[in-house]
Amino acid sequence: EKGGYEHFMLKEIFEQPKSIHDTMRGRLLVDEGVIKMAGIWDHVEKFKNANRIIIIACGTSWHAGLIGEYLIEEYARIPVEVEYASEFRYRNPIITDKDVVIAISQSGETADTMAALKLAKEKGAFIYGICNVVDSSIARITDAGSYTHAGPEIGVASTKAFTAQLTILTLIAFKLGKHNGNLGNADFMSLIAELDAIPKKIEDVLSSTHELVQNIAKDFVGVQNFLYLGRGYNYPAALEGALKLKEISYIHAEGYPAAEMKHGPIALIDENMPIVIIAPKKGHYDKIVSNVQEIKARKGKVIAVVNRGDQQVSEMADYVIEIPETSECFSPIVASVPLQLLAYYIAVYRGANVDQPRNLAKSVTVE
Ligand code: M6R
Repeated sequence: EKGGYEHFMLKEIFEQPKSIHDTMRGRLLVDEGVIKMAGIWDHVEKFKNANRIIIIACGTSWHAGLIGEYLIEEYARIPVEVEYASEFRYRNPIITDKDVVIAISQSGETADTMAALKLAKEKGAFIYGICNVVDSSIARITDAGSYTHAGPEIGVASTKAFTAQLTILTLIAFKLGKHNGNLGNADFMSLIAELDAIPKKIEDVLSSTHELVQNIAKDFVGVQNFLYLGRGYNYPAALEGALKLKEISYIHAEGYPAAEMKHGPIALIDENMPIVIIAPKKGHYDKIVSNVQEIKARKGKVIAVVNRGDQQVSEMADYVIEIPETSECFSPIVASVPLQLLAYYIAVYRGANVDQPRNLAKSVTVE
């Protein structure tokens, strides 16, 4: 059932062109210039008039939520907050019936997310679910929602569910932005055409980076720490890259917004510290160039994820992983793929049980 792959995780990484496509199918109608999402459309006034949107999730789904915040604020100009479910539920949060709460959960069974939603519901908020497992507990208590059609995710480390969550959040942001007038028609049309082409770009990334990343992984099997850096949309992508690595390889890894480095983590950098840096052309590129200079001045080992044809960062980096160029908002989807592969191969070479890492469960149904 692993379809010829050694692990479910690798199979699921390779399924992403399809899972993203399936998540858009019937929703993204490029020729008609329409995004169809009944869950959003039936309640569009709720979203339009919301004081704010609060996104609640845990783990990888929380990282997707952070990217959702960038998307929804940029394109729909609705204020968004993102909270860990476990923090939200225990701090007597201020919620009213003018708030919209979006829960993101692959399994739809995460205990903290479920409890946070119940609380938000009691306080009168409108509750929207983004779940992968159909008819799961969270999907059932929400007022409306959109399923990610990623198919069953077996590997404990979430991969294809994450990129499917990003796909849904992108669709929601574009749809709301178009509806409330913050996203003009020409921009909307070009963004949806670009979104439609993302599965092809993921296919391209999988075939062009698979072997390369496998080789890079060999050089890092023995390290104890990793830093992951990104800015803007790719700051949460850095957090997610680091989480993937720690979960399955048991190497300590931290994600940071690149500019925060000088406020602390730069003290860690020496010739033994590998730093993954996400540096696409669109998205504060010049700032990232100076971050890489700061790292190289301290002899850190840079693994850079850049766009094809990149020069400035590539010249300084020790390892270069090229991905196709996209608008900034799509770069976390594309950049996440080689980071998933990197975590996967480092873990495999360390002999770890990739699909079932120690101490972790696929759905965390306890607090
Ligand atoms: O099923 P959920 O999306 O609610 O799960 C949330 C987290 O437990 C989950 O994302 C966890 O962090 C994964 N193991 C990440 O790979």
